[in-house]
Amino acid sequence: MGRRARIVFLPGDGIGPEVAAAAMRVLEHVAARHGHVFEFDTRLIGAAALRAEGSPLPDATRQACLSSDAVFLAAVGDPAFDAAPPERRPEAGLLALRKALGVYANLRPGRLFAGLNGAGPLKPEIARGLDLVIVRELTGGLYYGTPRALDLAGGTAVNTLPYTRAEIVRVAEVAFRIAEGRRKLVTSVDKSNVLETSQLWRAVVTEVAARHPGVKLEHQLVDSCAMSLVATPSRFDVLVMENLFGDILSDEVGALVGSLGLLPSASLGDGPGLFEPVHGSAPTLAGKNVANPIGAIASAALLLRHGLSLPAEADAVECAVEKVLAAGARTADLLPPGSAGAVSLTGMTEAIVSALDTAR
Ligand code: IPM
Ligand code: MG
Repeated sequence: MGRRARIVFLPGDGIGPEVAAAAMRVLEHVAARHGHVFEFDTRLIGAAALRAEGSPLPDATRQACLSSDAVFLAAVGDPAFDAAPPERRPEAGLLALRKALGVYANLRPGRLFAGLNGAGPLKPEIARGLDLVIVRELTGGLYYGTPRALDLAGGTAVNTLPYTRAEIVRVAEVAFRIAEGRRKLVTSVDKSNVLETSQLWRAVVTEVAARHPGVKLEHQLVDSCAMSLVATPSRFDVLVMENLFGDILSDEVGALVGSLGLLPSASLGDGPGLFEPVHGSAPTLAGKNVANPIGAIASAALLLRHGLSLPAEADAVECAVEKVLAAGARTADLLPPGSAGAVSLTGMTEAIVSALDTAR
């Protein structure tokens, strides 16, 4: 039986529209092949929305997302708004959307694809076997905490890092459930030697662990974890942490696997999920057909798996990506600077679509 679904597409800024088109192309192909009907509803967000409507998250976009089956977002961010007040920055649209959807658990899987060992800065023997998931708390912590204030002239500023037990429990539960289906290790990342919030975090995650006896829990300080990710990345399975720590460490994982352009994410709550590549809007690459579409296409795979409960279709997309990389296709970000032979964004996308036809 085919599935009917309404998917909101938010291309956003910079390379966003190009990588969104790649993800849509793959989803259309999957729908045709597996007899599903996906209705795509494309809406404005970020700088594109600020220019057209004066708001980084117009009401029409918010409503369309809330009533959808899943939301795909490509990227927000535009240097033209760097000096704008916080509520008139493109990023404010994304933060408001995450909050409106209540997507508190952000899954950022990173693994080393066959053929890409050596593409990143790590020695191959260190990178080998890297396969981890960062579970980033996404609707609380430093990003949303109040009080917050900036007095540039007076030279003072405040941000706040609050968490409640309930917020920690629900994201930790997600991490443990994922670990149960993997190698059964959760690393909880905090800064409990300095921050009270981290002391609560550590205590609550330890309580949650008691309900998951099959999973081993370890705690690691965030500075030490940043170092271990480079020194011994393959020892990690699932990592769970507060919003800002997750933002920072997930970009580090981008470097470890060869390029930030490869990393997908799934943001899950109790309603529609939000699926977005981890990379940003990369304004300098925009409109050149050179960006890596794999982060976006792999996010479409997560949308199929977690947003629409279509695991076989998700596997097929991931398998196609794997195959194309194993066959040697490389966008510019995966090659040493200045090398010849890079495929374009659309070239990579079409290679993945063809590989879908020959997938299991
Ligand atoms: C990410 C991005 C966003 C974040 C920005 C664009 C607001 O860096 O998803 O990692 O900080 O969460
Ligand atoms: Mg980030």
